[in-house]
Formats: sequence, C-alpha cells, structure tokens
Amino acid sequence: MSDEMPTDLEVVPNPPPLPDRPDDGHKGLFGRVLVVGGSDAMLGAPVLAGTAALRTGSGLVQLALPRAMVPFALSITPELTSLPLGENPNRTMLAEAANKADVLVVGPGMGTARLARLRLWRLLTVDKPAVLDADALNLIAASGEWPATTSLRAVLTPHPGEMARLMPLIGGSDPAGGPPRVPTDDAGRLRVAVAAARAFKQVVLLKGKRTVIADGRRVYVNTTGDSSLSKGGTGDVLAGIIGSLIGQGMERFEAASLGAWIHGRAGEIAGKKLGPRSVLARDVVEAIGEVLRAM
Ligand code: APR
Ligand code: MG
Repeated sequence: MSDEMPTDLEVVPNPPPLPDRPDDGHKGLFGRVLVVGGSDAMLGAPVLAGTAALRTGSGLVQLALPRAMVPFALSITPELTSLPLGENPNRTMLAEAANKADVLVVGPGMGTARLARLRLWRLLTVDKPAVLDADALNLIAASGEWPATTSLRAVLTPHPGEMARLMPLIGGSDPAGGPPRVPTDDAGRLRVAVAAARAFKQVVLLKGKRTVIADGRRVYVNTTGDSSLSKGGTGDVLAGIIGSLIGQGMERFEAASLGAWIHGRAGEIAGKKLGPRSVLARDVVEAIGEVLRAM
C-alpha cells in the first residue's frame, strides 16, 4: 500500500438526495432486502439491520438466520420475514432467497463459525449488490485474500479494527513491523479507504468520526454523527440503511454516502432527545423517520 495521497480523486462535497418515492408505489418497487447474519452471541444485530432497512423505506425485508432465533427476531420486529437456516444448511435455499432479493446485507452478528463461512462463500457467487459488514469482513480477512471470483457488487463497511484485519490483503503493514493499524488522522484514513476500494474494486466505507466512503475514483467524507453512536449495534443500523437505499435503486457509492449521513443525523437526533450517553442503537433506528421526513 502506497503512503502517497492519491492525486486523481474527486472529492464529493455532499451526499446525494433521497430517491423518489412515488405515491402510487407498491412494496415491490421499494426493494427486497435479504439480511444474512445472527448467531448465538448476536441475535440483535440482524434485527437492528433489518428494522433499520424497513425504517429507511424498504418494501420487504427478510432475515436469514438460525432457525431457533426466528421467533425471537420476529417478536422484536413482526414486520420482518424470515428464512430459517438449519444446522445442515441447505445453501441452495439461501442462494435462491438471495437471487430473489434486490440487495443483500451480509455479516451482522453472523459469527465466524464454519457454517457462517460456508454460507458467506455461497453468497459470494450471487450476482447482486451487497453490503458486507462485520463478520463477513472478518471471514474474508481470515481467508487471506479478497475472493476475486465473487460476482457480488459490494459495499464494505469496516470499522478501523475490521479494516486493519483486511489491510494485509491490500499489501498494508505497519512500517514498525507490528500488526497493521489504520491511521487515525483524516488523511491517513482517506488513503486507506481509497487503497482498499482500488485493491478490491469495491465501494469501501471506513467507519469512525468522519466516516470515509471511497469507490476508487471518488471520495466522500461524512460530517454527521457524534458519540451517541458509540455503542454496540449502531454499525448494524448503518448496514441496514445502506442496504435499503441500494434496494430503492441507488448506486452503491451514493447509497453509502447518503446512508452514512442519515445514520449520523439519526444519532444526533436521538442524542438530543436522550442525551448521547443513553442512546441505544434502537433509538437510532427510531430517529431515521425524523431524518428522512426533514430531507
Ligand atoms: N462520531 C461519529 N460516528 C460514530 C462515533 C462518533 N463519535 N462513534 C461511533 N460512530 C459510528 C461509526 O462511524 C459507525 O458507523 O457508529 C458506528 C459503529 O459501528 P461499528 O463499529 O460497526 O459498531 P457495531 O457493529 O454496532 O458494534 C460493535 O463491532 O468490534 C465489533 O465485535 C464487535 O460486535 C462488536 C461490534
Ligand atoms: Mg460493526
């Protein structure tokens, strides 16, 4: 990975507007999202992502998650539908659901067990736009190389720790010889996001204060969001928002940029109501409506 700042980048100053929502629309028009995730330790993550997608305007959101979790997940948000996954995964069924969806959100709470890896690898062969988050990224990092054969058109949404795990795949290492680290300054973060986007030929969103979105040619640095978002679960909310916007017809770079902006603003609104310390990820989901209505 080069230390040089790329000079051939277009810096996009603002996120794009929301897509139209025709009055006579129906749920099929507003996108079918398939969220794949959930594990014993993390049931909440896919529910938060799915609920956020519904709040952002998706017509249909289906959760593919371990069978035993389905009743719990749907009792939190009954508007979700489910694809119960068995211990002996019928990966054909998962691929069929993925092929019916307009967009996939893969990774929230998925864990890194063997079954999760097999499911992810099956999904990588599906020709769909996808948000790859959390353990989807950790599994790819652990495999040692970007799956060049994937037909997914992805938005990768690493936090700095996940990005550090991906850095060896783009030839990144710490000059001091330690494990790779993502710089914390704006210029360094931008450099890493752009390098990853170019190496993987995907859209990359590097999380944190001033989240960076890069597609290799353009870059957007988000300005919304505060410490209201510094709590487990808010990343899952972001993945759901971006997936929803892609399902409503936006291109990946645009959806990731606007999604980061909406997510940050929703965090700020929840923080004003409850105080930034007390905001839960579900409060960020609840604030999405207020953000969208004001746009
Ligand atoms: N200002 C702006 N945005 C912020 C701030 C801040 N001060 N703090 C957090 N955020 C935003 C990030 O930019 C990101 O969009 O909140 C979101 C947090 O996302 P994640 O780091 O992915 O957190 P999440 O997945 O919800 O929960 C933590 O990640 O490290 C793993 O295994 C760990 O399950 C845990 C999970
Ligand atoms: Mg996360």
